[in-house]
Amino acid sequence: MDNQEIHEGLERITVARTALSEVDGEGGRLIVAGHPIETLAGRVHFEDVVLLLREGELPSAAKRDELRAELGRERALAAQRTRLSASGEGAMDAVRTALSALPAAASVTAMLATAAVTTGAFCRALDGAPSVAPNPALGHAEDLLRLAVGHEVSTVEVALLDAYLVTVAEHGMNASTFATRVVASTGADRVAAVVAGVAALSGPLHGGAPGPVLDLLDRVGDPAQADRVVARELAEGRRIMGMGHRVYRVRDPRAFVLERALTEASGALASPRLVLARAVESAAEHALAERHPERALKANVEFYTAVLLDAIGLPREAFSAVFACSRLAGWAAHYTEQVKHGRLIRPKALYVGPAPAGSAA
Ligand code: COA
Repeated sequence: MDNQEIHEGLERITVARTALSEVDGEGGRLIVAGHPIETLAGRVHFEDVVLLLREGELPSAAKRDELRAELGRERALAAQRTRLSASGEGAMDAVRTALSALPAAASVTAMLATAAVTTGAFCRALDGAPSVAPNPALGHAEDLLRLAVGHEVSTVEVALLDAYLVTVAEHGMNASTFATRVVASTGADRVAAVVAGVAALSGPLHGGAPGPVLDLLDRVGDPAQADRVVARELAEGRRIMGMGHRVYRVRDPRAFVLERALTEASGALASPRLVLARAVESAAEHALAERHPERALKANVEFYTAVLLDAIGLPREAFSAVFACSRLAGWAAHYTEQVKHGRLIRPKALYVGPAPAGSAA
């Protein structure tokens, strides 16, 4: 019995067929429903990607506008029912609770709107300020940012958030998508499956890294200190957040597109942390290569997520929730695929507990 092969973490195990995305860890490529991420991020809107994931092709402008209006209406409805509970609740708790409260038949649009409005309200509450009413006439990225920062926002800031939301909407069989598919495979409803995705994303090894990336950048403070602080972090046994990836053995292509979006915006919106981030990335890459010559540990999506979300005024406490606001589109699409084609997901475990008393060894 105990010579069974165990796949801890299910690394390299293929568990489903999907038309939603391909993650090429060796080549450092991400294809979303036939489109390289470089051709989507900063080039199309979040609404386009929601429809790409739902329908398999980029929409016409008319279809995008239809979804934009529907999301606007749903944000207005979501604002009427959004209540943040006890203070001290994290942003991901708030999003998870708000989504859980939706009826089982809630539409994907209602879920996207609920996540955005709740995240916005959480950010306002963090500042001790009341929630702002959604503006249904705006695009989803713009209104999400407005709801979070509490004032009108610039086109450059909106473009950055839109690029971010597009970048992280879908990414293969990551832990939260797998969690969503496991729940979907039991026949549970879509809201339940998406809530499982939020729960999985709340852990620091998955969606929780960008806040700590910003903490690290703060500890470094000055690019000239990057090598010293990175060495100290590693010597004290800490992982460098935003570095390393379960699948990518090269730099995460999403780090490239987010850095590109920040560079494109830099004429209009200077991010003081961009220069610092590049120095820390380079220091971390070198230090990790020395420590782990057997394994390439390069910047992942979270590294430049931290710089981008901070540059547009979002608080680090809400970074994971903003991630969830986008990834929800991917989870919902995986839910549909799983229900259409999937089987009940039910792997095995090797028993290593005690034998019953009196049984032969
Ligand atoms: N900093 C320091 N060491 C790291 C590291 C990091 N960011 N990422 C991996 N390592 C080390 C591990 O400590 C381990 O060393 P050991 O064998 O001496 O214990 C080795 O590299 C392999 O790591 P492992 O945890 O097996 O790799 P994984 O595939 O399970 O990890 C991550 C992938 C993402 C969980 C991991 O790289 C990590 O924790 N990164 C930081 C968190 C992060 O950025 N998460 C967001 C992911 S998108």
